Amino acid sequence: MSEFVTIETEPNAPAKQRQKSGNNPAVFIQTYGCQMNVSDSRTIEALLGEAGYSFADSPDIADIVLINTCMIRETAEVRALGQLANLSALKKQSPHKIIGIIGCVAQAKRTEILKSHPYVDLIIGPDAYRKLPLLLEERFISPPGTPGLLETTLVREELYDDILPRHRGGVSAFVTIIRGCDKFCTFCVVPRTRGRERSRPLVSILREVEQLLAQGVKDVMLLGQNVDSYRSEDHDFADCMTAVANLPGIERVRYMTSHPTEISDKLLQAMGEHERIMPYLHLPFQAGNNRILELMNRHYTRERYLEIIASARKLVPDIALSTDVITGFPTETDAEFQDTFDLMEQVRFDTAFMFKYSERPLTRASKMKDDVPEAVKIARLERLIDLQQRISKESNEAQINRETTILIEGTSPKDKKQWSGRTPDFRPVVLPRSSEKLGDVVPVRLQSLTGFTFHAERLSQ
Ligand code: SAH
Ligand code: SF4
Ligand code: F3S
Repeated sequence: MSEFVTIETEPNAPAKQRQKSGNNPAVFIQTYGCQMNVSDSRTIEALLGEAGYSFADSPDIADIVLINTCMIRETAEVRALGQLANLSALKKQSPHKIIGIIGCVAQAKRTEILKSHPYVDLIIGPDAYRKLPLLLEERFISPPGTPGLLETTLVREELYDDILPRHRGGVSAFVTIIRGCDKFCTFCVVPRTRGRERSRPLVSILREVEQLLAQGVKDVMLLGQNVDSYRSEDHDFADCMTAVANLPGIERVRYMTSHPTEISDKLLQAMGEHERIMPYLHLPFQAGNNRILELMNRHYTRERYLEIIASARKLVPDIALSTDVITGFPTETDAEFQDTFDLMEQVRFDTAFMFKYSERPLTRASKMKDDVPEAVKIARLERLIDLQQRISKESNEAQINRETTILIEGTSPKDKKQWSGRTPDFRPVVLPRSSEKLGDVVPVRLQSLTGFTFHAERLSQ
């Protein structure tokens, strides 16, 4: 998943405007990491709302502060745990405030956190959120200074599929369809933090999407670390996506993330044929060299990856492609890195998320000798970023004058007189406001670019 990889934080309201949503104890959740964490935070809000809690939009006025953490790379972990320093000060000021660490770092580093941050009240892994209301009750009645509670279940069957995540408004929503991951890429900590793969029953996915549509949602992103493994009775992922796209009232369906060993022509065909399935494919390749791919346990070759891209381009007209790449995996040579560079130059992704290898605890790669000097990892990463910036710019420039549609997602934060929206292939666009409303799909012509945002003019319908 990959905006799956940008670290997202929830808005933290400016001091003047801070509010609670009610009089009951109020929760503030700060979310780091991928869309899966964002989606989990919405599930937690639903669970706590149901249990009678209200919500605060800043840690200062909250009674309970939860940090939903990510550990995909060292920087993500440091950033999420860095919040703890601020929270320790807050806890000193208000000892009754409950501080909880949740999410991926909580799962993988439970005992370390409790040792190094003894004032933390709760440490809860991604599959134990159902226990939150109970643990909070327990915490409220324990005197300050009582050692924190750990809840990081190791039996991972949780799907949360009976809980309707709290929708915060807006026309887009994430819907988790599969949790966990069984792929065990050697660099990746996710199978350790989120456990084995399990799919939600199709009926519960459709029920959730229907409820979102009733709340004004038009654009749904189906989420999983590896959506292609989805199975519910005899339905596969293509069936699931088509069923969602057929629901009355939905405008756009997208998904994240696919894996090259499992993506099917059936899925690509469905994308090509169904008007409401968006022509956007995020297909991480990680490395362009076969020896490195094998060391990463990715189970495909460079040649196979290129074949899939060729099929996608054939079956899905106007498809936009994005990917994830890692530079400086242990033992990667200059020539092997060049294979990655060449693949990116050959495919010409519209967008790419590029990372330097970061050693993660509990992974197989952490036992390999990380012999690529930091400076080399960075230099390789910079070369890729330069290449991709040029390609992304060219890909965007080639869109100028194109006629397409945008889904109106909101008012542009930079100019209240403009709408902001996205094209089917996910390019951000602004359009002068007129009589449309949020959630409308408007035919437009892309006129010009500022950075990566298009300015568009309306076409008559
Ligand atoms: N399930 C998704 C993505 C998971 S994490 C998938 O398989 O594509 C998102 C991205 O983070 C990965 O695609 C990978 O490029 C990157 N990543 C994961 N572990 C990493 C590590 N140890 N160092 C650097 N990047 C990493
Ligand atoms: Fe991590 Fe690989 Fe699973 Fe993606 S497929 S979450 S990179 S182990
Ligand atoms: Fe997501 Fe980060 Fe966990 S990428 S699955 S929040 S380690």
